[in-house]
Amino acid sequence: MISSSVNAERRTGVSEASGEVAGGATARPEAGGVAEVRPPGGAFVAETTPDAASGVERTALLFERQALGCEELGSPFYAGLLRRAAEDVRAGGPCADAVAGYEQAPGPDAIALRLLGGVHALVLTGRAPRLAPYYPSAGGTADASRSDACWREFRQVVADELPWIRDWMTRPPQTNEVGRANLLIAALLRASVDHPLPIRLFELGSSAGLNLRPELFRYSAPGYTWGSPDSPVHLDDAWQGGVPTWLAEAAESHPTLDVVERHGCDLTPIDPLTESGALALRAYVWADQPARSARLRGALELAARHPAQVQRLGAAEFLKGVHVQDGTLTVVWHSIMKQYVPAQEWAEVSAELARLAGESSAEAPFAYVSFEPERVGNSFPFRASVRIGTRDRILLAEAYPHGLPAWAM
Ligand SMILES: C[S@@+](CC[C@H](N)C(=O)[O-])C[C@H]1O[C@@H](n2cnc3c(N)ncnc32)[C@H](O)[C@@H]1O
Repeated sequence: MISSSVNAERRTGVSEASGEVAGGATARPEAGGVAEVRPPGGAFVAETTPDAASGVERTALLFERQALGCEELGSPFYAGLLRRAAEDVRAGGPCADAVAGYEQAPGPDAIALRLLGGVHALVLTGRAPRLAPYYPSAGGTADASRSDACWREFRQVVADELPWIRDWMTRPPQTNEVGRANLLIAALLRASVDHPLPIRLFELGSSAGLNLRPELFRYSAPGYTWGSPDSPVHLDDAWQGGVPTWLAEAAESHPTLDVVERHGCDLTPIDPLTESGALALRAYVWADQPARSARLRGALELAARHPAQVQRLGAAEFLKGVHVQDGTLTVVWHSIMKQYVPAQEWAEVSAELARLAGESSAEAPFAYVSFEPERVGNSFPFRASVRIGTRDRILLAEAYPHGLPAWAM
């Protein structure tokens, strides 16, 4: 994921790392030493690129750039910690020891997020009891007036747990954003209008496969709900500016969906049913974003009750084993993964998708759903679309990178 993400970022201007950096923003590749980040409807931000610097100073600038991204994506707590950590790196403190050897790491390696993830894992596992009271994810409060005390504890934890942190520094951040099911369910409802059949779901780049259970989540927006109110996963405020009419109608005519098969693939799948897998997923959710943490908790609960297999396989190989089946709607879907797939493999993926579309019939229909950043002029909005059989692609919505909220196009 990480090695290909460098090229991926060059192609699209976003990566999981810089996607997290830019957060709810659309970004464009760096040029002339200046990175441009444009949040939807938000202010234009220009900053000096860390690549103009070297050594420790470059690392500190990367931390500060990540801090900006955290701020824009609604994580002031992490923004504050990262700014202090950047100063600590410059001053040769414990954070400098933690990131030593990563001075040349490409931006998409997201070393700042690795450090935060390692510390968060300590908090979540009870190994940092003096820091936990400042972490909302551990029942604490991120109160700006206590930020000095919080920083002292953070720095102490990094110093005391250096081997643990150094181990986390070796791990590429990998998340599985449950909010993206918002786009998948909309597409499944749209396809079910044409083909009201049991669904076989196949996902490319599933990570932990949490979004293979979208019909078990609850979705809501003003004047709109879909899914069981008893679901442990609630995607609230799913739509901004009103739910599109086609979706409201599809939701009314299809109050439930029957997903009869769930299959996923990933080059590095995470098993959400293991303690280490669940911890990795939880640790990379930003600690002051309780809605994301709650969605993840609920999805982990559902994963334990409704198994889904995620094969350790590249997307193209996986698709070679997928075929349409009479009496079912076969759906292939992916979110925020295309940019990591090398061009040659993606060409194979496209060929397999074309084969499946060609096999599609009224008895055995096929639909292809994606939620990915797409180039539009100089920006990269995150767009959801569905293509049913060989018909034209239908653009369904744009959304924030984590899938919430979405808005009609
Ligand atoms: C940014 S994550 C997105 C995960 C999930 N789709 C989501 O939206 O939460 C991208 C995922 O794609 C996987 N991936 C990258 N290249 C892949 C490939 N060639 N085939 C299958 N999965 C791949 C990565 O391992 C990673 O789990």
